[in-house]
Amino acid sequence: MQKARSLWQSNLGFLLAAIGSAIGLGNIWRFSYMAHEYGGGAFLVPYLVALAVAGIPIILLEYGIGHREKGASPLAFARLHPRFELLGWWMPVVAMFGIMLYYSVVIGWCVNYFFHSFTLAWGSDPQNFFFSDFLQISSSPAELGGFRQPILLATVLVWASCWFICYRDIRHGIEVAAKVFMPLLLLLTAIIVFWTLQLEGAWVGIRDHYLTADWDKINFLAADPEARTAAARVWTAAFGQIFFTLSLGFGIMITYASYLPTKTNLARNALITTGVNCGYSIFAGLAVFGIVGFTAASQGVAFDEAIMGGPQLAFVVYPQAISLLPDFNSLFGALFFLVLIIAGLTSGVSLIEAFSCALTDKFNWRRKKVVTVLCLLGVMGSLIFTSRAGLYLLDITDHFITNYGLVLGGLLQCLIIGWYVGPEKLRRHISKLGSSVPKVWNFFIRYLTPLILLILLLVAARGDLAANYGEYGTSHLLIYGVGWLLFCLMIALFFTLRPWLAARIKHKHRYGDEDLLV
Ligand code: ALA
Repeated sequence: MQKARSLWQSNLGFLLAAIGSAIGLGNIWRFSYMAHEYGGGAFLVPYLVALAVAGIPIILLEYGIGHREKGASPLAFARLHPRFELLGWWMPVVAMFGIMLYYSVVIGWCVNYFFHSFTLAWGSDPQNFFFSDFLQISSSPAELGGFRQPILLATVLVWASCWFICYRDIRHGIEVAAKVFMPLLLLLTAIIVFWTLQLEGAWVGIRDHYLTADWDKINFLAADPEARTAAARVWTAAFGQIFFTLSLGFGIMITYASYLPTKTNLARNALITTGVNCGYSIFAGLAVFGIVGFTAASQGVAFDEAIMGGPQLAFVVYPQAISLLPDFNSLFGALFFLVLIIAGLTSGVSLIEAFSCALTDKFNWRRKKVVTVLCLLGVMGSLIFTSRAGLYLLDITDHFITNYGLVLGGLLQCLIIGWYVGPEKLRRHISKLGSSVPKVWNFFIRYLTPLILLILLLVAARGDLAANYGEYGTSHLLIYGVGWLLFCLMIALFFTLRPWLAARIKHKHRYGDEDLLV
């Protein structure tokens, strides 16, 4: 018999969990790095446009579907029409097998660095420490070169923590964790930001590089074709970042909304989730630009020389700054890496939850068993990213999963709701629950958002066809990028083709006056 669906204990619990999923590693280093690379303050323009035309419309769509269809994404989409079930599986499979496998390893790096902070283990050359001592990075993605034990141990610890949180039901596991971790995360972040603002040179870094805009970088109408291509890349990155940061196209927000009670103000919840998440990114950016400004001033070098992109921002630039602090270096370092660990864990559990809920919906398996088996499989899957080639592999996988996997999920959701189900039905459902959604949302979901997402996919594909991403070899891009996407598709197909053993796909809405089933 199908079990009753558990519900959040309170709307605040839901909001903290959804915000916890959204705020993750991506908000701290990914956002700040992009802001620097793509025009400083000017990057906020494509970022906020992406939020308005894709972020908010799609989060409303995901909350609406999850709440109305009462299921994780496979069940929710199968209820719209059985032929959409594959998309329903695609999204949580991408979350679990595309992202969580490497995401957990990056949290594992943070766990290591948390402990390294106490001894300032990186010494006077954090760059050499990160690549040579810590990662012991191999010379190419082909050379896996064995596992890095400290990274492996920390990754096991991360999976064990996620298992501990997800193992209980939603109310006693993820909700309790969110209620403890999220206020702590906000408090610690505020301490770091205000501490950073006191440092010499911090304000100059913020003023000259964060609050100053390089408009040329976002001008996709520039006369020069090269400048146009570069600007198109900035806009693509901004949309990719919005998907990643709001956990859209992962099936997470659908799953979380399916645990909401019938009477719930979805539109207000969507605005709060997006507002807090993006506000957090912009706020945390002050700490990053401030610390780089401080490093530049302390070393007497230019800001651009002091900053580095990608993972190096957290694992090279920050350690460097921590060593330069006048006092309490270890405390500052430990706090910074603790912030990353907490932000990562609350996102990590949501990546697991989207897939485990999908399995319990379909097969009626016991949650505890599903979560345990998934976490064990997860640890095994993560092993490859703990190898000495791990950094290369996660860079390639992240590029393909974010730019294609998530954006494709978002695009197909818009097409299904926009052209098959009809956005007006979902809009009425959401509006009836409290704050109303303006009619222009229908236009977004039907035309504007999918059109933009399609352009993004094409721009990303054109870029990848023109030049190998990150100058990696074609075979590596095919295996760890394209191959990884195909691997996710296989898993999604496998589960789609199994018969439903638990939830009824045909479902009578208890609270809607129109049926989405056609
Ligand atoms: N939304 C999560 C992040 O930004 C996945 O890290």
